[in-house]
Amino acid sequence: MPPARAAVLCGLGGWLPSRVVTNEELSRRLDTSDAWIRTRTGITQRYAAGPGEATSDLAVAAGRRALRSAGAPEADAVVVATTTPDRSCPATAPLVADRLGLAGACAFDVGAVCTGFVYGLASAAGLIAAGVAERVLLIGADTYSTIVDPEDRANAIIFGDGAGAVVLRAGSPTEPGAVGHFDLGSDGAGEELIMVAAGGSRRRPAPGPAERPDGYFAMRGKEVYRHAVTRMTASARASLALAGLKTDDIDRLVPHQANARILRSVAQELELPPDRLVSNVATVGNTGAASVPLALADAAARDGLRPGERVLLTAFGGGLTWGSCLLTWPALGPTIHPHDGGGTPAP
Ligand code: UT7
Repeated sequence: MPPARAAVLCGLGGWLPSRVVTNEELSRRLDTSDAWIRTRTGITQRYAAGPGEATSDLAVAAGRRALRSAGAPEADAVVVATTTPDRSCPATAPLVADRLGLAGACAFDVGAVCTGFVYGLASAAGLIAAGVAERVLLIGADTYSTIVDPEDRANAIIFGDGAGAVVLRAGSPTEPGAVGHFDLGSDGAGEELIMVAAGGSRRRPAPGPAERPDGYFAMRGKEVYRHAVTRMTASARASLALAGLKTDDIDRLVPHQANARILRSVAQELELPPDRLVSNVATVGNTGAASVPLALADAAARDGLRPGERVLLTAFGGGLTWGSCLLTWPALGPTIHPHDGGGTPAP
């Protein structure tokens, strides 16, 4: 049974740092090429945080845009989904809340790697359904450039930095913007497929450069690729089944932007016409927990999401984790394109 109080999307914003990293730039310092990257991933460029620029800086900028689009700088809960928090302790969300003038709000981080934003939506829906919050600011933000080894050609070409945010208010499950029909899952047996080995309580930080490579992000790309396709497809189907819908009822599929080939395969498996697939991976790369809200902001700013359209979100990431949910696209205030504004420091 859907909760009496649903979380209703009422604001959206995205932010990208100013530095663009092109395939040509990567090809100059790594054994790779623009042709290889485009063919294998569909990515042409990605963005990188500048020196000293942290995840919270991007999160604050995206959060401010989302609050503006929601018409008021108010929220009584702030949730940040991230794999690259400013520090391992404390969480990044309280700092973000404070910088946005929301000090005192309930604030915590969600760690579900690239599925973090969908898990965050479910957390926000839970806070609202339980009466804990009336208005939640949910931000997906990551700076993978801070954990990917710049010499690791397999990962350096894929990942980019960015942040995307939504505001969710308490409302009715039947109104446009209400998020629901969540399917969330995990498989910890796949922990090693996507991991930063050192730095946590299992392998404790040790000083000295010899330990440094374990502190980098590592991914078993081919296996992850297969899981990404099968898990996102199955999870999307599970959400549809919960809602009693078929693929044909979906106007827009917005998957985690992992790799253009993965997205095409998921759409194919679901027998969804390619023009219903929303993708911005070509211009931003894989931005982790930011990827779904950044794809939403990109599409909304280009009129690629229209009020009344039925939208299916699906994501997959380290853990392993996966998740999907549905909403009918609401009428929102203007969405600034995430690419607009890069070049100025995050406020
Ligand atoms: O966000 C969380 C979820 N993440 C994902 O969904 C990412 C999933 N995985 C992928 O997107 C792909 O597996 C990659 C893009 C990471 C790799 O593409 P692939 O088509 O699976 O390539 P591969 O790993 O099978 O490598 C094929 C070849 C290898 O050479 P050999 O062993 O065949 O001689 C690699 O060493 O390509 C080589 N290679 C590269 N060559 C040029 C790997 N990276 C590069 C590179 N440039 N950047």
